[in-house]
Amino acid sequence: MEFTPFHYKSLDDIRQETEKLGVSLPLSENLDILKNPLSVGSLTVPNRVAIQPMEGCDGTADGRPDELTLRRYDRFARSGAGLIWEEATAVVEEGRANPRQLYLTPETLDSFKAMVENIKKTALETSGFEPVVICQLTHSGRYSKPTGTPAPLIAYNNPLFEKDAPIAPERILSDDYLEKLEETFGKAAALAEAAGFDGADIKCCHRYLMCETLSGYTRPGRYGGSFENRTRLYLNSIRNAQAATSSDFLVTSRLNIYDGFPYPYGFGVSPEGGLAFDPEEPVRLVKILREELGMPLIDITIGNPYVNPHVNRPADHGPYAPPEHPVEGVARMFDCISRVHQAVPELKVISSSHSYLRQFAPYLAAGSVESGIADMAGFGRMAFAYPDFARDMLYGDGFDAKKTCIACGKCSELMRMGKVAGCVVRDSAVYLPIYKA
Ligand SMILES: Cc1cc2nc3c(=O)[nH]c(=O)nc-3n(C[C@H](O)[C@H](O)[C@H](O)COP(=O)(O)O)c2cc1C
Repeated sequence: MEFTPFHYKSLDDIRQETEKLGVSLPLSENLDILKNPLSVGSLTVPNRVAIQPMEGCDGTADGRPDELTLRRYDRFARSGAGLIWEEATAVVEEGRANPRQLYLTPETLDSFKAMVENIKKTALETSGFEPVVICQLTHSGRYSKPTGTPAPLIAYNNPLFEKDAPIAPERILSDDYLEKLEETFGKAAALAEAAGFDGADIKCCHRYLMCETLSGYTRPGRYGGSFENRTRLYLNSIRNAQAATSSDFLVTSRLNIYDGFPYPYGFGVSPEGGLAFDPEEPVRLVKILREELGMPLIDITIGNPYVNPHVNRPADHGPYAPPEHPVEGVARMFDCISRVHQAVPELKVISSSHSYLRQFAPYLAAGSVESGIADMAGFGRMAFAYPDFARDMLYGDGFDAKKTCIACGKCSELMRMGKVAGCVVRDSAVYLPIYKA
């Protein structure tokens, strides 16, 4: 249905809207369910609320957390969330998404260590528990901009993105490069453990490099074509991360189970054509993660924030007029997650994309945990806007509508402009001047 901005005054308004749209959203007022701890491998997450990874693009030139980075994580530490999934952190210089993207190396390790220590200490003082903290390891692939200008490194040329200007052949990464990268992810996971993180995410989402390989149907060689080849970089990187870390360390992944682009350029769609979600390959992959690799938890997401942000993060404003009703976008996310989790229920799952529902987002979180669609609820933009969100949701009366994210898209806009990212509306003292400039 056509785009309609957020206008709901009650949970019933949202229920009526979903009925009108013919979609379903798990909504429950049983917020207490979010207080239950969750065991994940050898870890216990103190509650069911997670902060999703969100880049602030505000590190130092050599990739250490800087003043604004530390400010963000200090706010997250005070939020009351049981799990903090730290943002995209590069594993190689050429794969940095911007000159201020975090970059974990033996040289920058001490700064990450200090940041993780501060998160744990601050949370313990303010909430009485230490959250689980995960490091998101990434290679930005086609979105690499280590010096501030695009320097794409791709798995294959994709005419849907490149249109009639294909990327130069020397920027298509060789099989040897990808094989070496598998080792680099192992070394980076060891660094993440040395930094004090509880786990490392081998990031495979949002069409950055690892995610792009999943749809490399047209790529020749060892990393393209068959399912086995397209998942090689991902699965070997996970294996290397597991081998390089202790058995208590959580090797996990933020995984795109659906890209929203047709075959042969998208993962999670049918080879017969069309844009509908086809769970066949995502379920096959997730089964391998659980049954062969013993992974206890994944963080599920869909879409590409650069090309189809309405799929990845439904919003009321964006770089183009959304081609659908944003509530349909939220419902698609939960439908995809549900279908994969149902097929592999032993693998615990964090859900994404709650923020669009603003003050009603806690009911989506509670509903998805209560119905078993997910085991934890992950909040992205909300955490930028509303630093106490988890505390209010778990121990207060739910969300204060005057403090929530309003899905205005300005945090993403800042990021696209190559600036530092944060909430322009609710954290205006810091981010409004940057946005205006
Ligand atoms: C400014 C910004 C930066 C983001 N950076 C990351 C990132 O580093 N890694 C990642 O996996 N997702 C990233 N995301 C996506 C979020 O984690 C989340 O999936 C998305 O915002 C949808 O969830 P929400 O509706 O709760 O905001 C980012 C989103 C925004 C708005």
